[in-house]
Amino acid sequence: MRAAPGSPATFSLDGQDVEFQAGETLIEAATRAGRYIPHLCWHPDFHPHGSCRLCTVKVNGRAGAACTMQAAAGQEVQSDTAELNAQRKTLLQMLFVEGNHFCPSCEKSGNCLLQATAYQMGMEGPHFEQFYPNRPVDASHPDLLLDFNRCILCELCVRASRDVDGKSVFAIGGHGIHTHLLVNSDSGRLGDADMALGDRAASICPVGVILPKRRGFAIPIGQRRFDQAPVSQQTQGDGDSP
Ligand code: SF4
Ligand code: FES
Repeated sequence: MRAAPGSPATFSLDGQDVEFQAGETLIEAATRAGRYIPHLCWHPDFHPHGSCRLCTVKVNGRAGAACTMQAAAGQEVQSDTAELNAQRKTLLQMLFVEGNHFCPSCEKSGNCLLQATAYQMGMEGPHFEQFYPNRPVDASHPDLLLDFNRCILCELCVRASRDVDGKSVFAIGGHGIHTHLLVNSDSGRLGDADMALGDRAASICPVGVILPKRRGFAIPIGQRRFDQAPVSQQTQGDGDSP
């Protein structure tokens, strides 16, 4: 459906009009309008990936990912409903048991998009049985550490390294539950890859996988990103890790 000439094109998000520009996705337009749609693998600076499904909304009654669906005039989009938020909570619980997300000992606690989104959705416990993966930590790089057991396979590091840094340090390999993050070096270790602390890929991870060495727990509790405001009030786009 086309908007009348001269009038801005809008769709309705939970009953309120949101203006959009041609070619924008639902989440891009919503974020620009200061409206929160839950997401993990989407980042405003990168092409959408569509893997986490947290952004699933109903468009004219049918479910779709807000990060990949183009906005169109007159769409009736529902996002903040009890049904969709319950499904999001289940997806989060699945991610929490698939990895080792022991937040009390994680340097990313308080700055972690997964944790903040779980708080936002009212997730109180992981609910499912833990998988307890046992993927070895890679501490081979002088400035960066990788804890693969927290990876949610969002591919942001893959996209950042390939599209911004021009290095393609990371890739995703394997199948099914064995899908995992890979380092593109002969040894498979980060210390042997062409990666620098200043690379975009070094600060893009929304959870606690790619961490700078010698900088843990630097921000006092109470001043961390998601101590300041819940994720739903930080709609100006996701900042990279501090
Ligand atoms: S390491 Fe971080 S950025 Fe890369 S795929 Fe895993 S969770 Fe995403
Ligand atoms: S944000 Fe849309 S699928 Fe992850």
